[in-house]
Amino acid sequence: MNVNGTPYRTIRLADDGWAVEIIDQTKLPHEFVTRRLETMADAATAIADMWVRGAPLIGATAAYGMALAMREDASDGWLSLAYDRLYATRPTAVNLRWALDDLKALLAPMNVAERAEAAYGRAAGICDEDVAICSALGEHGAGIIQQIAADRGSGEPVNILTHCNAGWLATVDWGTALAPIYKAFDARVPLHVWVDETRPRNQGASLTAWELGQHGVPHTVIVDNVGGHLMQHGMVDLCITGTDRTAASGDVCNKIGTYLKALAASDNGVPFYVGLPSPTIDWTIDDGIRDIPIEQRDADEVTRLRGRTDDGAIAEIAIVPGTSPVANYAFDVTPARLVTGLITERGVCAASREGLSGLFPEYA
Ligand code: MRU
Repeated sequence: MNVNGTPYRTIRLADDGWAVEIIDQTKLPHEFVTRRLETMADAATAIADMWVRGAPLIGATAAYGMALAMREDASDGWLSLAYDRLYATRPTAVNLRWALDDLKALLAPMNVAERAEAAYGRAAGICDEDVAICSALGEHGAGIIQQIAADRGSGEPVNILTHCNAGWLATVDWGTALAPIYKAFDARVPLHVWVDETRPRNQGASLTAWELGQHGVPHTVIVDNVGGHLMQHGMVDLCITGTDRTAASGDVCNKIGTYLKALAASDNGVPFYVGLPSPTIDWTIDDGIRDIPIEQRDADEVTRLRGRTDDGAIAEIAIVPGTSPVANYAFDVTPARLVTGLITERGVCAASREGLSGLFPEYA
């Protein structure tokens, strides 16, 4: 997608051909800053401190983290240490484990001398695959938006509500939830996006709003509690969210607050779709509510807000009494029964084991 009119991927090799360049997403929307990752430890910090975030991009960064590790030391010991160090960075997004397992299975049987080159090649391959997956997913999802526009026939915009950021910033390019929106917008389907701000880190207000704006997609930022009201008044035609891990049963884990949107959508007859690239399916888990690990993050994310003051400075303020305890659950699980359909790179399916295994029989 474009940044100031220039095509951009969220992760790429630097001009020297070995360091990895990422966008520091903690600085958006106020500053566009890129950072160089030179070591495996840099990659681990980038994921843990959320310079990069979003399940597919976490997986891609972990893959390059393994490549950087092999450049430092391609021994068995360092391979195993790099795997463990990167795996420990964030617990919920399953793409992290998926990418690390992929790299480990490739590298472990190889001669030490071959490992670095092979790891760089596979990391680049994972990035290219992510772009292809998200693009195909976008085409399938755009069909749903186009159908709603055609059924309505009035030329009025299709109103889509999304939560958090599952756009190109969360992937290598295109996005998951936002890929159908970009594809439909590019095909001139009239549409408008309601963007949940997504406390506590405001990925909606800071990132989704920024990237939709860069692409010229009409959108409106709302606070997290507005969606139900909009749905009651016929102002949302469909919801599309992303996912950090979806169980084989179709239970969808996504950014905290997604479940409440799905409940409101169900109560109001609003279709609720999820953009799901196949590496985000956890085939080892059936009961998402019981078995998907939910990350709990630092209290500071809840107690403090960061933004730009009127004089242009970036500042942080406290909004909670210093004496109050705080809980910060980063994700929740929407049961499959509340999900209208899963939009994958191979098409749209029911949120169920049958639906997913119909599209991905090789994993069933
Ligand atoms: O904590 P984050 O920002 O890494 O959370 C991930 C997300 O952005 C969302 O949950 C997203 O909807 C799924 S990732 C495509």
